[in-house]
Amino acid sequence: MCLLIRNGEIVTSKDRYFADIYIEDETISAIGKHIEVLPGTKVIDATGKYIFPGFIDPHVHIHLPFMGTFAKDDYKTASTAALVGGTTTLIEMCCPSRGEDAMEGYNTWKQKAAGLSACDYAFHMAVTRFDEKTEAQLREIVADGTTSFKIFLSYKNFFGVDDGEMYQTLKLARELGVIVTAHCENAELVSRLQQELIAAGKTGPEWHEPSRPETVEAEGTTRFATFLETTGATGYVVHLSCAPALKAALDAKARGVKISVESVLPHFLLDKTYAGREGVEGLKYVMSPPLRDKRNQATLWEALEDGGIDTVGTDHCPFDLEQKLLGKDNFTLIPNGIPGLEDRVNLMYTYGVSRGSLSLNRFVDALSTKAAKLFGLYPRKGEIAVGSDADLVIYDPAYRGNISVKTQHMNCDYSGFEGVEIDGRPDVVTVRGKVQVRDGAFVGEYGRGELLRRKPHVESSTR
Ligand code: URP
Ligand code: ZN
Ligand code: ZN
Ligand code: ZN
Repeated sequence: MCLLIRNGEIVTSKDRYFADIYIEDETISAIGKHIEVLPGTKVIDATGKYIFPGFIDPHVHIHLPFMGTFAKDDYKTASTAALVGGTTTLIEMCCPSRGEDAMEGYNTWKQKAAGLSACDYAFHMAVTRFDEKTEAQLREIVADGTTSFKIFLSYKNFFGVDDGEMYQTLKLARELGVIVTAHCENAELVSRLQQELIAAGKTGPEWHEPSRPETVEAEGTTRFATFLETTGATGYVVHLSCAPALKAALDAKARGVKISVESVLPHFLLDKTYAGREGVEGLKYVMSPPLRDKRNQATLWEALEDGGIDTVGTDHCPFDLEQKLLGKDNFTLIPNGIPGLEDRVNLMYTYGVSRGSLSLNRFVDALSTKAAKLFGLYPRKGEIAVGSDADLVIYDPAYRGNISVKTQHMNCDYSGFEGVEIDGRPDVVTVRGKVQVRDGAFVGEYGRGELLRRKPHVESSTR
């Protein structure tokens, strides 16, 4: 099958120009002005549209056993939502708990996706315990093409690792040449503060943020950076939410620590007052690290523009209202997480590019190219070039609409962004040359998505 996309404006992390793109089977085979249409070629006219490389969400939860329940999406709903929202590759956190066998967990996560996903995907393998058996299994998992780890410095006794285990994980990662992503919060402080607040009768969702204040995240980030510095490993801070944690990461980077930074959609647009909303409303806005004081948003946007923040993910995590209600009388029991997989591209485009000062190139870099580079997918993904996978988003900047639970594909009975305006949307989305979204609607094939097996690769932010 050959496909020709004509008259669009190509936007990559570096360039912006008008050209046609010719696709043979799964890859881009030519880019140029006025490419000749051979018989049998399907033509898409992209006049007035941007053509972006398929977006990559580096932080997604789909199958997630957490806080006594399971997040609601499966690979069908999640990949539909991803594609309608312009994300052609997602990286899911494979998170067996501390009590589970790592290899069994890895196989379970792979089975959940196989034959079902409409978009391409990869995993970050969570290390939730470090012992001899786990180490041997991690070596096999890396050899299988999952070349990034995830550690949690929080969620004591469930996903969390102690400092000794973090050290061992980083040493192994250094040896194998894999990057370690980390949730940075001090578990002990969170646990103490939670107990004190609950004992004082402060049980509502508005107390979630004070139970994990900015200092707790800054400590986790500093400690992670110190361990990276000591071991020489390469790291990536996930869902960084506030100025003190950013300072900790950037100070470390300035002294040569190999550390990159991800922030996630909710922290750019929502703040801690949302968790204080009446009734069930507040419960929707509990995630960790928590939504912060609004003053942090300017810092995050500025760092996104100047590259201090490398990537933007979602930390997509759909728990429905019934699940959120598990914690209505005790905020420590509210399943943490906010869905966002479908909304990241449109909201970051709208409030970053269209209504803000984020350049189109940095937008593409932060939402696609940089993640491809850091996680060993570049230039197959995250680029529009001859030889790259034909994962393309033909984006209509003239579209106007609103986010709503009524139209979303994520399997969740609310949207954290209900009613929020968007200034654009993907019109056509291709996955390795196949049109999976047309006129903004999913027309794709489940099972089309592939597990992306990667080679060991370490690369760090170079700002
Ligand atoms: O609140 C969050 N972030 N839930 C998902 C688990 C995690 O920490 O990434
Ligand atoms: Zn996390
Ligand atoms: Zn997460
Ligand atoms: Zn159309």
